[in-house]
Amino acid sequence: MEEIKLFAPATIANVSCGFDVLGLCLDTVGDEMTIRKTTTKGVTISKIIGQPLPLDPAKNVAGVAALALLKQLDINTGFDIQIIKNIKPGSGIGSSAASAAGAVFGINKLLGTPFSIHELIEFAMEGEKLASGTAHADNVAPALLGGFTLVRSYDPLDIIKINTPKELYATVIHPQIEIKTSDARSVLKQKISLKETVIQLGNLGGLISGLYTEDYDLISRSLHDEIVEPYRSILIPEFDTVREVAKKVGALGTGISGSGPSVFALSKGKEIAKTVGEAMSKVYQNTTIDFDVHVSKINSTGVKII
Ligand code: HSE
Repeated sequence: MEEIKLFAPATIANVSCGFDVLGLCLDTVGDEMTIRKTTTKGVTISKIIGQPLPLDPAKNVAGVAALALLKQLDINTGFDIQIIKNIKPGSGIGSSAASAAGAVFGINKLLGTPFSIHELIEFAMEGEKLASGTAHADNVAPALLGGFTLVRSYDPLDIIKINTPKELYATVIHPQIEIKTSDARSVLKQKISLKETVIQLGNLGGLISGLYTEDYDLISRSLHDEIVEPYRSILIPEFDTVREVAKKVGALGTGISGSGPSVFALSKGKEIAKTVGEAMSKVYQNTTIDFDVHVSKINSTGVKII
């Protein structure tokens, strides 16, 4: 194989109570990437359509992830990457993770899969480090594995794929203001109390249990973030109203998608997820803020060849 075309999906990190450890993969929004073998060693990025991102591989998340992978191999082949960037950077739905995950997945396939998916996660995390200053895995893991993923440990890296309830749908609204992940991380408290820890642990355990047992009421009760949302929600216009209307029309729960400004809701069934999207949209229609809305089932496969 000389060339590969991929769909690199958007993701929701944190999923309320799982800061830096929990993530899920979306199905209806993602980038398209074409990766070609070249005869010159190294990585080039010849085209990015849709967003003004750097073509220099050392300054681009896809390039950095690809270079991290190639560093492990002694080969003379190189790779050229082209990206149709549908996910806006700074939107909170894993824009950098999609590019990084797509790059390492595609190169690995073109090389006859020398690396496991779990090894690819480590390379893709290098891209996240460039984008946000922290090599977090809660976007790249679901982008590569699909479904819900849990980072049980960062050192050593231990990532587990969690069951996805069949009727679970995500709604994401993206109010078009940009929040950089690095800025959204700088507003967080570095120390949390024992009381906050107990609340967060209870909810994370409850959510994981609810996902495995497909207990939608338990999922609903567990979608609460005690430690991050109180600080980040201040950065998102209309956050409380969006939450309120989504719950009112039947969402199981809501939260900040990744580091924001996108807000997500989880619902049982596509119809409720669509109604939630309409209700959330109405909130921003009454403001001067532009927005995008996505309704998606949970993507169980992650990056895929198209
Ligand atoms: N867990 C990361 C954060 C995700 O919340 O900062 C960033 O997309």
